[in-house]
Amino acid sequence: MKIAVIYQSRGGNTKAVAEAIAKAAGVLAEPIGKTFDATADLLFVGGGVYAWGLDKDFKAYLETLSPQNVKRIVPFTTAGGMDKTKDIAAIAEQNGIAAAKERLAVKFGLKNHAGFGGGKSPVMLTDKQVSMVNEFVGKVLAKAD
Ligand SMILES: Cc1cc2nc3c(=O)[nH]c(=O)nc-3n(C[C@H](O)[C@H](O)[C@H](O)COP(=O)(O)O)c2cc1C
Repeated sequence: MKIAVIYQSRGGNTKAVAEAIAKAAGVLAEPIGKTFDATADLLFVGGGVYAWGLDKDFKAYLETLSPQNVKRIVPFTTAGGMDKTKDIAAIAEQNGIAAAKERLAVKFGLKNHAGFGGGKSPVMLTDKQVSMVNEFVGKVLAKAD
């Protein structure tokens, strides 16, 4: 089974979560913008939440995914408080791609709001967040086998 992890991140939070997901799945995380033309049986795909919604470029990226390339997506988001994973699932499903029932929404509170758009140091996840990601990936992969 081919697994891939793609993310959109302005401030680094989603990048950190994507990299933790990728580590748990034994692959590398890649940002949107790099052409993703490989096929994936399982694509973990996530982004941040900005002003109540997903990033415009991220949504445009999601629109480019096709069922010929991607069998199933696993949506994840990071946010101050909101869970927008269903928005990711909705775009994929509209394009004929199945979305896993399992979704990961990591909350950062107000942390890193100030990091928006700048050249900043890498975001470190807390032990609790890393455990949450590991547990999530374990659950998804156990079901996918
Ligand atoms: C401009 C801006 C707008 C935001 N709007 C929201 C929002 O509407 N709801 C929310 O829960 N979090 C909001 N946040 C918090 C981000 O979703 C959160 O910091 C997220 O982890 C950012 O991901 P990134 O670091 O990968 O870019 C906002 C952050 C910024 C910088």
